[in-house]
Amino acid sequence: MHGRLESNRALLEGLRLAIGQEDACEVVVCVPFPYLAQAQSVLTGSVLAWGAQDVSAHNEGAYTGEVAAAMLADFACRFVIVGHSERRALHGETDAVVAEKFCAAQAAGLTPILCVGETLAERESGRTMEVVHRQLAAVLELAGVAVLARAVVAYEPVWAIGTGRTATPEQAQEAHAAIRAQVAAGNAEIAADLRIVYGGSVKPQNAAALFAQADVDGGLIGGASLVLEDFLTICQAAV
Ligand code: 13P
Repeated sequence: MHGRLESNRALLEGLRLAIGQEDACEVVVCVPFPYLAQAQSVLTGSVLAWGAQDVSAHNEGAYTGEVAAAMLADFACRFVIVGHSERRALHGETDAVVAEKFCAAQAAGLTPILCVGETLAERESGRTMEVVHRQLAAVLELAGVAVLARAVVAYEPVWAIGTGRTATPEQAQEAHAAIRAQVAAGNAEIAADLRIVYGGSVKPQNAAALFAQADVDGGLIGGASLVLEDFLTICQAAV
């Protein structure tokens, strides 16, 4: 929950100016709901896509305060984050609810960015792969492997988000490879094409080493995306 109308404008316009080339990496900006119209207004006609940070599992009805996937589509969102660890931890989102949100997003034509990742306690007790497997399995069991043909998976170890403590490239690669293997067990082609991005204290200093890993296909950037130069350096590391 960062940014205001004016500071967003500077960031979005700076991005639009800087990322115009065809050889740039694919960039998606996921903004808080009130700024979707601003993102649409500034980024329309650019190579940048935009999206939201959460979506309701419901299509419409008496769910005051929630935002439906079709409402996001009204603002030409192409992507939406589902199951961010802060939604899971602070708002009690279960694997089942996240899977429903994933499906609601796809039904409205959006590409969900499914966040998975373990807490520090889970990592220290050797349960990282079990937790990530369970979180991804909830989507696979509800909707089948085919849905991952139009999705992004973000591996975000909770202990690395906003803490300045990044997973090592080897830790990220291990989790990403496990995610891809889990998908490959259902469909090898979809697994090979699946974009699996890493999130958690990605900075200009560590982005290249993370993105160099075989199964790390990009990043989900939080804090560093609020500083234009830092974010652009990270984007360059992803090309
Ligand atoms: P940081 O890059 O600040 O760790 O945040 C990652 C993230 O989860 C963004 O939502």
